[in-house]
Amino acid sequence: MAMATFQLFLSLGAAILPLLTMAARPGTGLSSSAVTLTSGQGPTIVCDHLRFKDLGLDMKSFPFCDKSLSYGVRVKDLIDRMTLVEKVGQIGDQATGVPRLGLPKYDWWSEALHGVAYVGHGTHFDDIVPAATSFPEVILMAASFNESLWKAIGQVVSTEARAMNNLGLAGLTFWSPNINVARDPRWGRIMETPGEDPYTVGRYAVNYVRGLQDVEGTTPGTNTTEEDLNTRPLKVAACCKHYAAYDVDNWQGVDRYHFDARVTERDMLETFVRPFEMCVRDGDVSSVMCSYNRVNGIPTCADPKLLSETIRGEWNLHGYIVSDCDSLEVMHHGHKFLNDTPEDTVAQTLRAGLDLDCGLYFTKYTNSSVSQGKVRQADIDKALNNLYMVLMRLGFFDGSPVYAGLGKSDVCSDSNIELAAEAAREGIVLLNNSMGGLPLNKLKHKNVVVVGPHGNASNAMIGNYEGYPCRNMTPLIGLSEYANVSYEPGCADINCLNMTLFHRAVTAAKNADATILLMGIDLSVEAEGRDRNDLLLPGYQHQLISEIADAAKGPVILVILSAGGVDISFAMDNPNVSAVVWAGYPGGEGGRAIADVIYGHYNPGGRLPITWYQADYVHQFPMTSMPLRPIDDLGYPGRTYKFFSGKPLFPFGYGLSYTSFNYTLKTATKSLAIHLGKYVQCRQLSYAESVKPPPCPAALVSDLSCAKTFEIEVIVQNVGTIGGSHVVMVYTVPPSGLLGMPLKQLVGFQRVFVSAGGSEVVKFKLNGCQSFTVVEETAYQVVPAGVSTVLIGDDKVSVSFPLELQLHY
Ligand SMILES: *[C@@H]1O[C@H](CO)[C@@H](O)[C@H](O)[C@H]1NC(C)=O
Ligand SMILES: *[C@@H]1O[C@H](CO)[C@@H](O)[C@H](O)[C@H]1NC(C)=O
Ligand SMILES: *[C@@H]1O[C@H](CO)[C@@H](O)[C@H](O)[C@H]1NC(C)=O
Ligand SMILES: *[C@@H]1O[C@H](CO)[C@@H](O)[C@H](O)[C@H]1NC(C)=O
Ligand SMILES: *[C@@H]1O[C@H](CO)[C@@H](O)[C@H](O)[C@H]1NC(C)=O
Ligand SMILES: *[C@@H]1O[C@H](CO)[C@@H](O)[C@H](O)[C@H]1NC(C)=O
Ligand SMILES: *[C@@H]1O[C@H](CO)[C@@H](O)[C@H](O)[C@H]1NC(C)=O
Ligand SMILES: *[C@@H]1O[C@H](CO)[C@@H](O)[C@H](O)[C@H]1NC(C)=O
Ligand SMILES: *[C@@H]1O[C@H](CO)[C@@H](O)[C@H](O)[C@H]1NC(C)=O
Repeated sequence: MAMATFQLFLSLGAAILPLLTMAARPGTGLSSSAVTLTSGQGPTIVCDHLRFKDLGLDMKSFPFCDKSLSYGVRVKDLIDRMTLVEKVGQIGDQATGVPRLGLPKYDWWSEALHGVAYVGHGTHFDDIVPAATSFPEVILMAASFNESLWKAIGQVVSTEARAMNNLGLAGLTFWSPNINVARDPRWGRIMETPGEDPYTVGRYAVNYVRGLQDVEGTTPGTNTTEEDLNTRPLKVAACCKHYAAYDVDNWQGVDRYHFDARVTERDMLETFVRPFEMCVRDGDVSSVMCSYNRVNGIPTCADPKLLSETIRGEWNLHGYIVSDCDSLEVMHHGHKFLNDTPEDTVAQTLRAGLDLDCGLYFTKYTNSSVSQGKVRQADIDKALNNLYMVLMRLGFFDGSPVYAGLGKSDVCSDSNIELAAEAAREGIVLLNNSMGGLPLNKLKHKNVVVVGPHGNASNAMIGNYEGYPCRNMTPLIGLSEYANVSYEPGCADINCLNMTLFHRAVTAAKNADATILLMGIDLSVEAEGRDRNDLLLPGYQHQLISEIADAAKGPVILVILSAGGVDISFAMDNPNVSAVVWAGYPGGEGGRAIADVIYGHYNPGGRLPITWYQADYVHQFPMTSMPLRPIDDLGYPGRTYKFFSGKPLFPFGYGLSYTSFNYTLKTATKSLAIHLGKYVQCRQLSYAESVKPPPCPAALVSDLSCAKTFEIEVIVQNVGTIGGSHVVMVYTVPPSGLLGMPLKQLVGFQRVFVSAGGSEVVKFKLNGCQSFTVVEETAYQVVPAGVSTVLIGDDKVSVSFPLELQLHY
């Protein structure tokens, strides 16, 4: 999402971003009076007799307000009453409404990536609601690998959103979450995403979306009819974005407004589109946003195959498709797609299945596009139908009695703030503790010095797509709960351009019982519109860490704030650095969470949701090379844990604890027989020359019923002296000898708490064919016959067993 029009972006480039963080803070005298005026008015309920009366209209003469009719009939009545020009006014994000019909205006654009945000026209903060609960940036929430946490967060965010909507401060349609797979460590928007693994990203999407959207008690079951899904009520509407293959923002002069992602169909299915499919099919999301980039030459918002055929056709979206903001202008001026006129652009996108334009193109050019004969008015009707069905489900027309009681006290409540702190604690990853530096002891480490540019971080903790946090729990404040804390920044800011402040910091470290270094990067290095060029700590941060490590009297604890990986091998190799922790961008309560982990009040259990590469990785190939698999001819190393066979700094899924765990495999299936129907053909796969392929190498997943499941039970034992949470990860490894396959792929995970000395049985019920499915060269999804491996755990603790898949007639 861009914060301004495309032209502004073109002329100012990244300079726009500071505007975002400088947005007027309510209560500082900068907030506009328009914002203050809206508060307290309550949400607009369209079908309200008095409203119509005030407008000089009789509601009874408008069937779209007749609650005895179905949503479908009501929506059709509303659309049929509009003139073309009136219709056109409703398909941009700032819908004008139709006073003649009693239809009010509506701002479609609100955001709630990790808490209700002030980004977009739909949401405002004011003196009544000056802030909302600020959860960690998504990359840290993902690191918890706790599905129920993700859903619980979605529920809290949507409760705060509904409360703000009741106060006239927020819309009902939120363009979150961002579920692009973090393919490259340089990408500036990794913080917004759940990481590099398509399955994890998809599960995050499903849980967060269900938390946002589902009205308790109305979650559709397996036997819910199609009618129910098209009309089921929504708490708020979520949106999975940015579809698809969008993960280059601005790298060495290549920006998203001009980038053409060259993607194989294989990578498309296996990686880029998979989370979106899960979001639509399993999350039943009510919106998808298409992205700025082109995919194989075609702007995503103009591609009928990507939009109507796939999202609507194959996945059966119940909702609307929206463009990223000013995407249509980008398509016209940036991509210069087919050298089209704006009217062509409107026609291409409407016909492709786009329903709503975040921007002005639909509003400005649809009327002329119709009169030039380029698009049918019926295509506009279809779009309006998709839009108003969602607004019906949200109670925009009839109100939402279940949520009518929510108000100011439901935003930033104690329990919401507590969940934000819990989310940060659950995500924080212990990267190294081999010197036993952690946890610190309150009785022993009484006088500590905090060093580093992030020691007093507040904005940096929140990241982007932010709201105003209920409060800013900086690391300094958090640590002060446990110790007598002094602060020596060491560097003036994260750029750390000189060593002027080193001496004071080193002197303080010499005298402190412990030194806690808060280092890392921020939005000036990785952000929307800003990709990274290297994976290093900026400026003299490295030197500061080393000098402190040499001089400190007590243990030296290094805490890194970042979304993408940072090559800190120099600190890993330095035995004077006692422990290393990654804290993402931990949100408004982040400082508490960091302190709770450092002082052992919480035993860390987070896992890295992305591979952390060594610094030289990014010099081996351009960010713009999209393939996931290695390209041997060019010396490209392959991407993500699935295809990178080199030595990472830390692998995907890495994370330590203050205790140790041990696994015992309780039950596991050793073989699965899949019956092929009479007319099902065996499919060929590519094998290494030395391997004799099985007689029937593979079958298409779509030819199989995939009804069989198998169970794995693992006993997780805590063999240490302190309780802790542990994430059990289950991977499958395709049969050996198959060419071009992932090294392994995640098919399940669970986070479990195990008390000291205790054990827990963790059960996985996995689908017998989906868990082994691979995408072959020509993009068929197949189940390969032969011996796959089921691998549970990581390089610290693991068990594995072979599982033979037999395909037989
Ligand atoms: C997962 O998150 C939920 C919060 O919704 C929490 O109650 C639970 O303890 C977490 N599980 C683990 C093992 O940390
Ligand atoms: C599914 O169908 C059964 C039998 O008709 C019914 O008892 C049950 O309530 C239905 N479940 C849902 C979630 O609709
Ligand atoms: C819409 O198009 C029609 C037909 O070209 C034209 O007469 C009318 O003035 C246009 N209206 C607007 C508001 O642009
Ligand atoms: C921390 O930052 C706040 C402003 O964000 C400032 O008021 C405070 O003085 C700073 N504390 C220290 C110890 O530097
Ligand atoms: C707290 O730290 C300051 C500065 O390091 C020191 O002067 C003071 O004596 C300490 N107070 C306590 C109670 O230890
Ligand atoms: C060191 O860097 C800070 C912040 O960038 C700057 O204000 C200061 O003037 C610099 N000092 C020297 C000696 O260059
Ligand atoms: C660790 O610190 C000691 C002094 O405290 C110093 O002699 C030594 O060189 C340091 N080691 C490294 C690897 O920096
Ligand atoms: C952790 O730190 C120790 C001591 O500095 C080092 O020997 C070890 O290699 C580090 N572990 C990792 C995984 O980097
Ligand atoms: C871990 O489990 C294995 C086998 O289940 C057992 O042999 C080993 O002793 C256990 N280790 C600890 C530290 O309990």
